Amino acid sequence: MKSRVRARANIALIKYWGKTNPALNIPAVGSISVTLESLWSETEVEFDARFRSDTLLLDGDSRPEQLERVSRCLDILRERAGVKTHARVVSDNNFPTGAGLASSASGFAALSAAAAHALELDLSPRELSIVARRGSGSAARSVFGGYVEMHAGSAADGRDSYAEPLLAAEAWPLEVVIAITERGEKAVGSRAGMESSASTSPYYPAWIATSESDLRAGREAVLKHDFDALAEVVEHSCLKMHAVAMANRPPLIYWNPATLDCMQAVKALRAGGLPVFFTIDAGPQLKAICEPDARPAVVGALRELPGVADVIVSGLGPGVEIR
Ligand code: PMV
Repeated sequence: MKSRVRARANIALIKYWGKTNPALNIPAVGSISVTLESLWSETEVEFDARFRSDTLLLDGDSRPEQLERVSRCLDILRERAGVKTHARVVSDNNFPTGAGLASSASGFAALSAAAAHALELDLSPRELSIVARRGSGSAARSVFGGYVEMHAGSAADGRDSYAEPLLAAEAWPLEVVIAITERGEKAVGSRAGMESSASTSPYYPAWIATSESDLRAGREAVLKHDFDALAEVVEHSCLKMHAVAMANRPPLIYWNPATLDCMQAVKALRAGGLPVFFTIDAGPQLKAICEPDARPAVVGALRELPGVADVIVSGLGPGVEIR
């Protein structure tokens, strides 16, 4: 009753922000992402009747504050398998945890797939996506590779709230350059930030009202491989999400000065004719998305900014893999 799975991080092009049901983790809006080849979580789950409780070792540390979410995900699968056996979960990320690099996405996708496999449950990728969503909304997307669309759904129980593949990675092999501007874990997680936006940000209703048209534009741009159209709607979706959060009470600003410097650098590169655009998640790191030929210039421009501590480069990668 043991399995090991690798799942990749993903970066949202059209952002998810807000939940209609926080307990079931049902997103208020759909989203579109790319799965990254080089940033992954590798998670081993072992069920054993001798274990007296679930345990979690994340990057070598026991993380009691994360254990409840992990057990909640495991409970869904235990119920389906008709067992009550506890599990030992050992998970490692090959990139910084909790700094806005989507470690919860790769982590919960890997956990769900490894636990389902260890319990010999024969789940479809869609069912797996629904289970992963209960751990982290963005994890539903990391089940799949390449370009992925997550549907908000409308069912009260979340059964139509899952991700599915939109376009294969090889069909449009863009690259992602991540500028690390801060190494620590973020102070306000996405769950708390979203809850605060829904209840205090005057821009939240506008965010919800405009999400469908952003999704449509993003989907169309991906399917047509229209770089300029994608650049426009991705930066709009990102800045709109951050504007919503900035207007929370208390305000929520995920950026630092270097994040803004990176944004300006990307804008300048694009104004100079280079195919590159940016997005930023619930953290201070900037993700520049570019055509492969533009990568050296993008890496060079971001690396030379004084506030950039490191640059990570990744192509687009596959969905969950049993090791
Ligand atoms: O799934 P969570 O709770 O990690 O939230 C993800 C939120 C953003 O990264 C900011 C946007 C997204 O769609 O990934």
